[in-house]
Amino acid sequence: MTTHNAEQIKAAVREHYTGLVKSDEVCCSSSNCCDTEINIETSLKGEFANQNQYTDVQLSSIPADAVENSFGCGNPLMYADICEGDVVLDLGSGSGIDVLLAAQLVGESGRAIGIDMTPEMIKKARKNAEAADAKNVEFRLGEIESMPIESEGVDWIISNCVINLAPDKDSVFREAHRVLKPGGKLLVSDIVANHLPKRVRSMISNWANCISGALPEAQYLDAIRRAGLEEIQVFSKSAYAKIGKAEVASIKVGALKPNRNYTPQ
Ligand SMILES: C[S@@+](CC[C@H](N)C(=O)[O-])C[C@H]1O[C@@H](n2cnc3c(N)ncnc32)[C@H](O)[C@@H]1O
Repeated sequence: MTTHNAEQIKAAVREHYTGLVKSDEVCCSSSNCCDTEINIETSLKGEFANQNQYTDVQLSSIPADAVENSFGCGNPLMYADICEGDVVLDLGSGSGIDVLLAAQLVGESGRAIGIDMTPEMIKKARKNAEAADAKNVEFRLGEIESMPIESEGVDWIISNCVINLAPDKDSVFREAHRVLKPGGKLLVSDIVANHLPKRVRSMISNWANCISGALPEAQYLDAIRRAGLEEIQVFSKSAYAKIGKAEVASIKVGALKPNRNYTPQ
């Protein structure tokens, strides 16, 4: 079985998303993004657009390019009661769909910041922000394992189908704990996979498709807990793909940074 180190995995993920955004292919309604070397049941693909659960009003309020180049697995804003003046951080912001929607909620007195490690995505997101005339938006090139964000600077962390792609999830959640204000919340839509065969986990080509790096749900929630976040709640769960007996699901998870000191493990 081949094993890959973190840098090899990140390079493969970056290359994949650079290719997608350059060629302007649409992820989950095309046959390209979700194709893999293993046989993922294609019957589930058509559901992705609905799984995203954005309203028509939301989708028509931002540039079409941001919608067409979105690669998420849910709408992380669905369970977030974001207020005017809040600071929202999107991990792996891609071409900007959730940042642009969050920017509308936080208004002129708030800010929406996106981090992504793929330069082409950052370029695309900045273009979309300009097209949307969004002044309270910023996109930073960087990795979510070491976020280019000040400590205790954000009220909300959102993320859409990204943390599964990170080889070191503990670092991601530790960083989330660091940058959240006390009382701040994490709300992510992501992929988890129970009983995934080792053979599939070891295939680097399936990392970028949100399969190989997906943790079993219990491990995912444990990683959030270990970082010091509390009140962890799974809001919803739906099938993402079927690979033999493995259950690959899209989940929405919320957690809170408590209002007291904690040294993450
Ligand atoms: C599946 S796409 C989702 C993009 C966006 N959230 C959306 O809903 O359209 C994954 C994105 O995460 C970014 N990404 C993956 N791993 C990352 C990491 N470790 N640090 C920063 N960005 C990462 C990729 O560059 C890509 O833009």
